[in-house]
Amino acid sequence: MISATKIVTLQIYRQHFFYSTEGYVLHHFQIVIGAQWGDEGKGKWIDQLSKSHDIVVRYQGGNNAGHTLYVDHQKHIFHLLPSGILHDHITCVLAAGVVIDPVVLCQEMHQIENILNLTCDRLWISSKAHVITPWHIALDTIREQKRTSSIGTTKRGIGPTYADLTSRIGCPMSTFVDTKKREEWLKSYIMHTPECKQFIEEHPDLWKKFADAAIKLKPYVCYAEMRIREALKQKKRVLCEGAQGTLLDLSHGTYPYVTSSHTIAAGALTSIGIGLKFQPHVIAIAKAYCTRVGEGPFPTELTDDIGQQIAEKGQEVGATTSRPRRCGWLDAVALRYACEINSADEIYLNKMDILSGLSEIKLCTAYHHPKLGTITYIPDEDLKDIRPIYEVFSGWKHHLPSSGKKIQDLPKQALAYIQRIEEFCGIPITHVGIGPSRDEYLC
Ligand code: IMP
Repeated sequence: MISATKIVTLQIYRQHFFYSTEGYVLHHFQIVIGAQWGDEGKGKWIDQLSKSHDIVVRYQGGNNAGHTLYVDHQKHIFHLLPSGILHDHITCVLAAGVVIDPVVLCQEMHQIENILNLTCDRLWISSKAHVITPWHIALDTIREQKRTSSIGTTKRGIGPTYADLTSRIGCPMSTFVDTKKREEWLKSYIMHTPECKQFIEEHPDLWKKFADAAIKLKPYVCYAEMRIREALKQKKRVLCEGAQGTLLDLSHGTYPYVTSSHTIAAGALTSIGIGLKFQPHVIAIAKAYCTRVGEGPFPTELTDDIGQQIAEKGQEVGATTSRPRRCGWLDAVALRYACEINSADEIYLNKMDILSGLSEIKLCTAYHHPKLGTITYIPDEDLKDIRPIYEVFSGWKHHLPSSGKKIQDLPKQALAYIQRIEEFCGIPITHVGIGPSRDEYLC
């Protein structure tokens, strides 16, 4: 049963945020994170939020991510460039924690300049970000094939590049764009990794394209973190955009079925090199149900017709790999965990419209664990053996209210569902997505 006092408290809390005229919280330093397994629809909100910011920063991951944006009913997918790039007053940054495939970055810059007719002169590429080489991409596939149980990586070279970074044999951007330094790096890298030498000899074309990208990128490479720190001191508005989701975090996700970077909000601080002084406001983005791409435990996965129906209606296909996403009911235990480890301040709940028309909706608020019995937290092991325990909500047949209306205008069944999520997570849901376009939401 929902506690009436708790709901009122959350509603009052909601009103206490300082909103811009467009309904967004105004803070100098915001971090947007994915609160599930990625693909929560962060791009749409980052695109919206970035309008009231000066700088938008990608802080981790690489082109394993895929942000889909709809502008004037046209679909745009970016894998590396921050979603803020579509607003030409915004400086966009790829910070130290990002891994960069230079060829992909050049392609995206080409798309911005030649298809969208925008400029890239407001792009800062961190000299400390590490480079994904064609060899790392090949290695990703080789390693996946060798594993007894595969992770289902995006095969973009992410894991091998971060592995070389932590092994201290990687190639930072500052080295990459300096021909002499790059050649020296390669000479010593080949000594560690003789298979790479053979790979280069067999694929001279790939290596040439890779080296050519250095010429295009060189003017954008800078000490980006120092500039961001300076901007924060000057009270410029900085928005950090996470890629992937909390449950794919290298340390706090469902290891080993995770990505190789720190997707959580704290990852933004290490990536841009600042402490806690600037007190970020953290927005957790979640879908009204769950999806996961690749392998790994997914307690609320639906392998029946309902899962299929959600997948089709929600067009749940990976933006990067075009793989079908696994779909399931919203796992509130996992969402509460994500809110906690990100110190999230508010939740934006996406794709509520996809649940319209279902006769009932389930919400996982506990698990059955074979050894521990009923638990209301994610166990630190044996995640594959837990079974979801659901609370069941009535569905709603009507269409959701149109954009511009309030969350309070939702059908009472939909409202009961989101109020239970708020109460369970102890954090307000301040925005509800009701369609793919920028302006399709309630707040
Ligand atoms: P990697 O990041 O390519 O190493 O893949 C590791 C795991 O993270 C795989 O299960 C991928 O499917 C998943 N993954 C990586 N990037 C994304 C993303 O942007 N959305 C959803 N899943 C992702």
